[in-house]
Amino acid sequence: MDFAAIILAAGLGKRMKSATPKMMHKICDKSMLSYVIDAVEALSPKKIIVVVGHGGETVESQISDLAESVYQNEQLGTGHAVKVARDAFKDYDGQILILSGDTPLISSDTLKKLIDSRAESKAAAAILTARVEDPAGYGRVILSSSLEVKGVVEERDATPSEREIDLINAGMYCLEKEELFSALESVSNDNDQKEYYLTDVIKILSDNGKQIVFVEASEVETKGVNSRIQLAEAESIIGNRIKMDHMLNGVTFHLPETSFIGTDVTIEKDTTVFPNSFINGRTQIGKDCEIGPSVKISDTKIGDNAIIQSSYVNGAVLDDHVAVGPFASLRPGTRIKSGGKAGTFVELKKSTLGKNSKVPHLSYIGDTKIGEHVNIGAGSITCNYDGVNKWEAVIEDDVFIGSDTMIISPVRFGAGSMTGAGSVISKDVPSGGLGIERSEQRNIEGWAKKHRDKATKKHKRGGTGSK
Ligand code: UD1
Ligand code: CA
Repeated sequence: MDFAAIILAAGLGKRMKSATPKMMHKICDKSMLSYVIDAVEALSPKKIIVVVGHGGETVESQISDLAESVYQNEQLGTGHAVKVARDAFKDYDGQILILSGDTPLISSDTLKKLIDSRAESKAAAAILTARVEDPAGYGRVILSSSLEVKGVVEERDATPSEREIDLINAGMYCLEKEELFSALESVSNDNDQKEYYLTDVIKILSDNGKQIVFVEASEVETKGVNSRIQLAEAESIIGNRIKMDHMLNGVTFHLPETSFIGTDVTIEKDTTVFPNSFINGRTQIGKDCEIGPSVKISDTKIGDNAIIQSSYVNGAVLDDHVAVGPFASLRPGTRIKSGGKAGTFVELKKSTLGKNSKVPHLSYIGDTKIGEHVNIGAGSITCNYDGVNKWEAVIEDDVFIGSDTMIISPVRFGAGSMTGAGSVISKDVPSGGLGIERSEQRNIEGWAKKHRDKATKKHKRGGTGSK
């Protein structure tokens, strides 16, 4: 059935107490508004018009690929917002679905039911409702004794007995275009908020003898987000849906309630996610991996059989059989090829680690290309920044970097070369050679014993040091 859609998204969202427009607040990594757009988009509407106002430019720029925007410069109410969209429907005839950008839990299936019920009944309007335990804050749907919709009354305008009604207005409607815009002409702002309420259209149509049908949805789908508390509640529900989808696809979660998985994350089967894992952005994880506990992984591509423990990984590409952590930080531009390892207290940035190469302990490697089968000894770091410029190092295949080597970039280590532990290497090391830079060790016989004896005597004479 053909339809077009209007999504109302111009309100400030006062109750959010935020400088960010309400619609742009994120739920599992994606704006609240884009959930609503996606639910509509799945039903192939003729067009989607989003009414923007507060933070309109921000909202418009984020949705420009998905929908057209019209501006409501003054927020005079939901009815006024729909009126503002009128011109955008000049060349459209048929039914219009009206939604709010702040009901992100709505599903396409339910929207389809709403559209179909209007079309099949040929009613002037269909309104989405829910029976809820606590209707506070919502408009109440007034039914006649024969269960015909007579109108909607906002809570603040409702009489005590109307407030008892547990059938709420979900703020989603499907109306015949002509009926909608002609009824809107009669809407006044004679109410507690002095706003032009879209909900009055329902009463006006009913008073004019038009038929209005209602569709009941589940309480959860109709939840509106008006405060940060409701934002967190919506995120918990959407987050659970996301994790359950992964579980249905064969991913194991231990204590899933402790992990956050963004909406665009993909995980292949037989991967296990341990507690406290935060995975977001365009992250893709292969199969048979062990992720967590305690990781933050963003915009990263991970192959199969990887193990990532207690680490930060952002903007990296990790191939199969890679091991990361505990306590590693992989920054954007990190590439670890298969069998590679970034171990404990290791930071990598804009660097490639070739196949089976390892940086096991206490290292910083930046702007460096490392070949295959390389081992970077504990405590070795690249000195890639001279205070003005960043420089690159190249470490060819089969190199062994001794512990605590300072790699002063730009510098190149030829294939199969080594460095002596503790060396400060600023010149290229030839293939198969040893780079060593340290003074020769000398041993002084008996020095330590003499030193201790002297110190002990001093202590007996009343020194203040520890014994
Ligand atoms: C609205 C309904 C209420 C319903 C509830 C469901 C009205 C008068 N009331 O109340 O019956 O139970 O939704 O969640 O419609 N907006 C604009 N321009 C404006 C005013 C609002 O674009 O001038 C947008 C808001 O950004 C929001 C939507 O319309 O997305 C609803 O506005 P909101 O103020 O949240 O209405 P509620 O009080 O929740
Ligand atoms: Ca609302």
